[in-house]
Amino acid sequence: MKKSAHTTLIFITLIILPLLISKSNGDARDQIIRKYCDRGFVQENIKLFVENFIRATEIASNEMQVSHVAKVVVGTGPNTNYLLTQCYSHLASQDCRLCYSQIRTTLSTCFPRIGGRIYLDGCFGRQQNYSFFEEYTGPNDTVICGNTTRKSVLFQESMRGVVYNVVGDALRNVDYFARGEALVLGTNDSVYVLAECWKTLSPSSCRACLENASRSITTCSPWSEGRVLNTGCFMRYSDTNFLNPRPTTSISSNTGRIIIAIVVSVCTFVVVFTVTLVSVLYIRNHKSKQQKRKGSYDQAEKMAKILTEISVKFKYSSIEKATRNWDECNKLGEGGSGTVYKGVLLDGREIAVKRLFLNNKFRAAEFYDEVNMISSLEHKNVVRLLGWSGFESESILVYEYLPNMSLDFFIFDEIRGKELSWEKRFKIIIGISEGLVYLHENTKTPIIHRDIKTSNILLDLRFRPKIADFGLARYLQDNKSHTNIPIAGTLVYMAPECLAHGHLSKKIDVYSFGVLILEVVTGLKNNRSTTTDTASLVSMAWNHFQQNKAEEIFDPNLMMHLYTHTNYQKEAIKAIQVGLLCTQEDPSLRPSMSTVLKMLAKDNEPLPAPSNPPFMDENAMELNEITHKLHQYFNSDNSCSIATVDHSQFFPR
Ligand SMILES: *[C@@H]1O[C@H](CO)[C@@H](O)[C@H](O)[C@H]1NC(C)=O
Ligand SMILES: *[C@@H]1O[C@H](CO)[C@@H](O)[C@H](O)[C@H]1NC(C)=O
Ligand SMILES: *[C@@H]1O[C@H](CO)[C@@H](O)[C@H](O)[C@H]1NC(C)=O
Ligand SMILES: *[C@@H]1O[C@H](CO)[C@@H](O)[C@H](O)[C@H]1NC(C)=O
Ligand SMILES: *[C@@H]1O[C@H](CO)[C@@H](O)[C@H](O)[C@H]1NC(C)=O
Repeated sequence: MKKSAHTTLIFITLIILPLLISKSNGDARDQIIRKYCDRGFVQENIKLFVENFIRATEIASNEMQVSHVAKVVVGTGPNTNYLLTQCYSHLASQDCRLCYSQIRTTLSTCFPRIGGRIYLDGCFGRQQNYSFFEEYTGPNDTVICGNTTRKSVLFQESMRGVVYNVVGDALRNVDYFARGEALVLGTNDSVYVLAECWKTLSPSSCRACLENASRSITTCSPWSEGRVLNTGCFMRYSDTNFLNPRPTTSISSNTGRIIIAIVVSVCTFVVVFTVTLVSVLYIRNHKSKQQKRKGSYDQAEKMAKILTEISVKFKYSSIEKATRNWDECNKLGEGGSGTVYKGVLLDGREIAVKRLFLNNKFRAAEFYDEVNMISSLEHKNVVRLLGWSGFESESILVYEYLPNMSLDFFIFDEIRGKELSWEKRFKIIIGISEGLVYLHENTKTPIIHRDIKTSNILLDLRFRPKIADFGLARYLQDNKSHTNIPIAGTLVYMAPECLAHGHLSKKIDVYSFGVLILEVVTGLKNNRSTTTDTASLVSMAWNHFQQNKAEEIFDPNLMMHLYTHTNYQKEAIKAIQVGLLCTQEDPSLRPSMSTVLKMLAKDNEPLPAPSNPPFMDENAMELNEITHKLHQYFNSDNSCSIATVDHSQFFPR
């Protein structure tokens, strides 16, 4: 009892407190105010549309790392995607990224509608199939008033005055942004105002938009809160302060540093500094965060229990030493949620360190999910978690290090590809399917990995495969086997039904595994190119297989070997056939992973002929097929939002 309370304290100090403290430096303001999805559906080519959409959000992701606005156009013709995302200027860049990830998540739930827009308290995003960048007014312009408190006449007058000033300031500022606040005379009340135009507007459009907004917002008098969501601008007033601290007043970041100093110097007196931090926290969050804190606390307790049950806690300083202070040269890779480094512990053990930046609650939830999931896994073909560590706003997962990199490093390389003989490759395929059978069938709650691809298959010294990166994995709950999820994973490995509906089922992994088999046999990437003249790997394999010419697509690195051993050749053709069975468009026709394993490993296991190829090239997904899909979608959910929005990670890394 005592021990677990103690661990909880340590845990809260290390992980949850920093979250709350770092949060008080700014706020991503990623609450959704309103979302509009268009009425029209994607008509021409769903797959191309989705590819363009995902590509556009990827480009925007990169731009939003360095700037507060992204204007992106991807594709040509009717499937062109136009995307605008913008954070309001009072957000720090880190908060902007968080707000943006909310845009990306939520916009993707408009699919298969042709477009949509979303207003949040900290940012705005819009995606269409036409160039809307100069639009500043439209029928969906809205004013939303909060009606909780009726304000005094003095307040209403102050509000009008500040709105007037802020509009003038915004028009003078190059970034089309202004903020204002005023104390209401004779009261303790203040009024806070923010206005911002989209940066793609001309000055005269911005003026028209803000002038309209300032007229609309005054209709919210006498209420305490008003927001205008215009086509070209955003405006808000409130009697509570919703403006992030200005970056120049760095009081809070100093406090942050002082707290870090305390943590470093009094490290041993855990209880002492916990009390210090708790009191700091209490003062800071006393009023508004009571409920939030309770949630975090419950979660912290749960997690502390899991962590102590399952794994070793590493000292932060020893992890720092092991990675030579996060030396760039030790970087193994970078993903959506963090960076992976190689490290060597003092005892000589090699480790892979995943460094996650946890700067708000949903990142913490993600960390919790990943730890919770992998800590319970134990299989020779699943990468092993050795322990964890945490400090400040970082959380760290320590894995076994696998020296041979990942599968893609070999099979797509002309020279290194020679190191993987057919025997090795076939063993790798078998090993991965064993790992997947374990995840799907042998654990208490089935786990869907959702991002099976060659770069997530790590190889040990003897080229034994291990499935890694559970950042996107989800438990499959019995009663919700068809939960709608936002589009996640890596596009070329993604099952078509996942593109169209976001259905979560084991067959998603089976599809990705099928693509992976074909890649291992052919040494080719499944680049579903968007130009119509190059067929995808899956359709190429399908065509060759149908014409009994499967051997023509073997990896040239394997040709000699396969031609001189008829047994191997049979095996390779069988692998292609299994790959095609796994990539059939109808998920119900795809075999389960245990059937796949049987087909591969047993010599006389009967193999059905693949009958239902995935949509093969850009034009092959026929119109009635699409209409059917849309109809299904439409009937299952009349609104354009998808029922379960998952707030974690979304798109391909
Ligand atoms: C306005 O919103 C509705 C749905 O909320 C949508 O169907 C319509 O296309 C939107 N209009 C414009 C011009 O965006
Ligand atoms: C955008 O999509 C809608 C609905 O599918 C379609 O009616 C319209 O013509 C498209 N616009 C362009 C410019 O392709
Ligand atoms: C105020 O809000 C409540 C619910 O929050 C709603 O029932 C009521 O109709 C609103 N009143 C006005 C005047 O908007
Ligand atoms: C302003 O606040 C002080 C202390 O918080 C309180 O005593 C006073 O009554 C308030 N004045 C008004 C006008 O609300
Ligand atoms: C603002 O513009 C919208 C769209 O043109 C219009 O419907 C609305 O009446 C305008 N509001 C005001 C207060 O002028």
